[in-house]
Amino acid sequence: MLDSGNAIIKNKIKQFSNLPTLSVIQAKLVKTISQQNASVEEIVEIIRHDPALSTKVVAVANSPFFGIPGRVESLEKAVMMVGFDFLKGITLGICIFGFFPQTKALRGMWAHSYTVATLAGILAQRLGRVDSNSAFLAGLLHDVGRSVFMKIYAEEPAMQRSAEIFELKGEELLQAEIESLFCDHSQAGRWFLESLAFAKDVIEPVGMHHGPGESIGSSGLVPVVYLAEGMMGLFSPDLAGDGEWTGQHQRVFAECGLKDDDKESIANHIKDEEASIRRFFDL
Ligand SMILES: [Fe+2]
Ligand SMILES: [Fe+2]
Repeated sequence: MLDSGNAIIKNKIKQFSNLPTLSVIQAKLVKTISQQNASVEEIVEIIRHDPALSTKVVAVANSPFFGIPGRVESLEKAVMMVGFDFLKGITLGICIFGFFPQTKALRGMWAHSYTVATLAGILAQRLGRVDSNSAFLAGLLHDVGRSVFMKIYAEEPAMQRSAEIFELKGEELLQAEIESLFCDHSQAGRWFLESLAFAKDVIEPVGMHHGPGESIGSSGLVPVVYLAEGMMGLFSPDLAGDGEWTGQHQRVFAECGLKDDDKESIANHIKDEEASIRRFFDL
């Protein structure tokens, strides 16, 4: 039953990622970025046709995570600074965000994802042996499976529990998802990103963000995104989303060589950012 259920969901995801999620411009952008020899000029030319996307790319390049001195005003500089893979992630995030009704719950979910991304980036910089840009991107997309589910729920009138499931956290959430859709949102997120040919560095931590076991993944990012998600439950109850801090998080935290002092300094960073994140997502 589980296998046939998974096949149904995989099939839905395939249709979903091919169809209207991406506007013509956004689809062209994702495709061009996937080509090895894409140039900054080509990418800028495509983004220019989508004013909302242009504004968001410049806004993200100015976020404290990148730490770029001075203000980034031009799209060219923003594209160079954030990098192509990152751009693909932002594009996808914006498309998915824009595709769903702009309810407070979904805006809250993206604000949660953006904060997890910032935390993952900071943690990666602190650990020093993993790529912080990939950490940010994986954090930004870690709950993309939840958006995929919202779309599937909307198309299946029999699934009336979507609002109730959306409020759950941690293990309870995963169980409810498996009961209704045969897989959880981390698995759905993995399939979705695979269907869009994302790099393994990003897919692995998304697929294991609720249960890494002993795995650190090929890029070492699995525990980073796992901890970033859990920390939301500790530091930011309003933007905690589906994240909660457990004994397992504490164990992984210590195994990564992090100390309780690190927790506090990371928490302060997020507290400084929270107001601007709320404004950005209109919460
Ligand atoms: Fe999650
Ligand atoms: Fe999450």
